[in-house]
Amino acid sequence: MSDDPTGTTAATDADGGLQDAIATLDRLRADALAAIADAADTAALNEARVRFTGKRSELTGVQKRMKDLTPDGRKQLGQALNGFRAAFDEAHAVREEELATAALAARLEDERLDLTLPPRRLPPGRPNLLTQVEHEIIDVFIGMGYQVAEGPEAEAGAYNFDLLNIEPDHPARQEMDTIYVAGFDDVVLRTHTSPVQARVMTTQAPPIAVVVPGRTYRADTVDATHSPVFSQVEGLVVGEDITMADLRGTLLSFSRAMFGADRDIRLRPSFFPFTEPSAEVDVSFDEPGGNLGWLEILGAGMVDPNVLSMCGIDPDRYRGFAFGIGIERVAMLRHGVKDIRDFFDADARFLARF
Ligand code: PHE
Repeated sequence: MSDDPTGTTAATDADGGLQDAIATLDRLRADALAAIADAADTAALNEARVRFTGKRSELTGVQKRMKDLTPDGRKQLGQALNGFRAAFDEAHAVREEELATAALAARLEDERLDLTLPPRRLPPGRPNLLTQVEHEIIDVFIGMGYQVAEGPEAEAGAYNFDLLNIEPDHPARQEMDTIYVAGFDDVVLRTHTSPVQARVMTTQAPPIAVVVPGRTYRADTVDATHSPVFSQVEGLVVGEDITMADLRGTLLSFSRAMFGADRDIRLRPSFFPFTEPSAEVDVSFDEPGGNLGWLEILGAGMVDPNVLSMCGIDPDRYRGFAFGIGIERVAMLRHGVKDIRDFFDADARFLARF
C-alpha cells in the first residue's frame, strides 16, 4: 500500500499500483462528496473543486499513475476516474443549485415588502405661531384695503434713519442698539420696519395704504421679553384728508378684530422722530378680579411733514399716519405665551400647541 499522492512509488506494487490507485480514488470520492455536501456557500464549493480536482490535487497524482499500468489496468483506472469525475460533477451541480436557491430565498426574505402595512404618516407641518399671527394681522388690514409691501433686512442707514428724521447724532440711533453690517459703510440690520415707509413713499404716489411685515434686529440681551431678532408689522397711510381720528379708528378696528369686539384702546402721548404727534397705543384687557387693564401693543403717530417732504411727498397737500406693531407682543398676549424665547427655541412641545 502506498499513501504517496504523487504516485512516484506506486509502480513498485505488483499490479503497477492499480488497486492502490482505485482505493485512493474511492477515498477521494467519499471525501469530495462530503466536502461538497458541507459547502455552506459558493466560495466553499469552489474551494472543494480546487482541492479535489485542481492541478495540485491528489487526483492529479492518481492520473499520473496511468503510465505505470498495463493496458487492462489503464482501462480500469480510466473507468474509475470517469466514475469519480461524473460523481463529483453531479454532486457539485446539485449543491450549486441548492446554494443558488437558498441564496435567492434569503434575498427574497431580506427584501420582503409587506404591502398591507399602513403607511407611516408624517405629521403635517404648519406655520409657526409667529407666522400665523403675522398672517392674521395682515389679513385684518387687507380687509381694510391695504396692500402688502416688503423691504430688505440689511438696510441702508438712509432708510433706517435719515429719511425718518433720525439724524446721525440722534440719541435714537444709540437707543435702538443698532447692529451694523461689518464691511459696509452705512448698512445696518434694520432696527424696525419703518424704513419701508420711506421706501414706499419715495417710489409710490398717494393715496398709499400699506402694511409691511418683517424681521427686525436690535443688539438686545435675550430674556423673557427681549430678543435680538423680533418681528413687526408696519402700517402707513398717506392721503389728502388723513387725520388722527383715522389713525384711532383704524387701530380700534384692528384691536377688536384681533383681541375681541369688546376691546377699547387708548393713546398715550409718546415720541418717535418720524411721527408728530406720536402715541403709544394700549388695548384693554379684563384682568383677573374684574378690573380693566391696559396693555401696550404698538407705537404710532401722524407722519412728520418733514419725513413726507424728504420722501418727495408734498406735506401741504398730504398727511399720513403710521404704526408699528410688535408681532411677538401680540402673539404673547393672544396666546398666553410668557417667554419670547419660546418662539425661537423650536421646542416641539411648544410648537405643537398652536
Ligand atoms: N418704528 C417704531 C418702533 O420700532 C414704531 C413706530 C412705527 C412708531 C410707526 C410710529 C410709527 O418702535
